[in-house]
Amino acid sequence: MTSDHLQIVVCGAGPAADVAQLVSAAQKQSWTAAVTATPSAIDFIDVPAIEELTGAPVRSNYRASPGIRRSLAAADALVIAPATYNSINKIALGLADNYAMTSVAELIGRQVPTVIVPFVNAALAARSPFRRAVASLRDEGVRILLGPEDGWEPHSPGSGNERQRAFPWRMAFDTATRGAYGGGTSGQ
Ligand SMILES: Cc1cc2nc3c(=O)[nH]c(=O)nc-3n(C[C@H](O)[C@H](O)[C@H](O)COP(=O)(O)O)c2cc1C
Repeated sequence: MTSDHLQIVVCGAGPAADVAQLVSAAQKQSWTAAVTATPSAIDFIDVPAIEELTGAPVRSNYRASPGIRRSLAAADALVIAPATYNSINKIALGLADNYAMTSVAELIGRQVPTVIVPFVNAALAARSPFRRAVASLRDEGVRILLGPEDGWEPHSPGSGNERQRAFPWRMAFDTATRGAYGGGTSGQ
């Protein structure tokens, strides 16, 4: 029997440094996990530590090297966390200008249950392009943890460090498993 597999995409924001918490939550439930990073996110994460924890290379570009498959691995769920203002807007528009964005575009297209956990301040979250992006992705069935019902709100500008400690890694994984096990991730 093969285990369930969680694909994680991290973007360039502070909580990316703590992505091991999501990997560990998945592994505790006997899931495997692999991390893909946007080019900006690479500066926020400890690549060797994550590779050791997951047993899989951290992908951030298209380069093929020994042991790295070119095609996108099958995934039972996708969690994009932390998701930046930049990447959320790009995902909604279908932009695929780096390996992480291309993977996300394809996995959502394959209807892999997808959860996005934004890490944006309130000023960015108030912008029309961002609000349109969130609405459009929800319309497509992507679960976005944002708003009072999720207990996860944009933070006030300058308070990112404090909010990083409260980042809802566990809720992200629990929501992804509900999507993977048929509970559905849509419904916002
Ligand atoms: C130290 C630092 C912290 C950042 N924190 C955030 C953040 O919390 N949220 C966000 O949306 N962007 C944040 N940014 C800006 C993003 O890194 C920037 O928009 C980048 O282009 C995002 O690229 P990506 O979406 O491909 O990961 C931060 C940048 C730096 C240098």
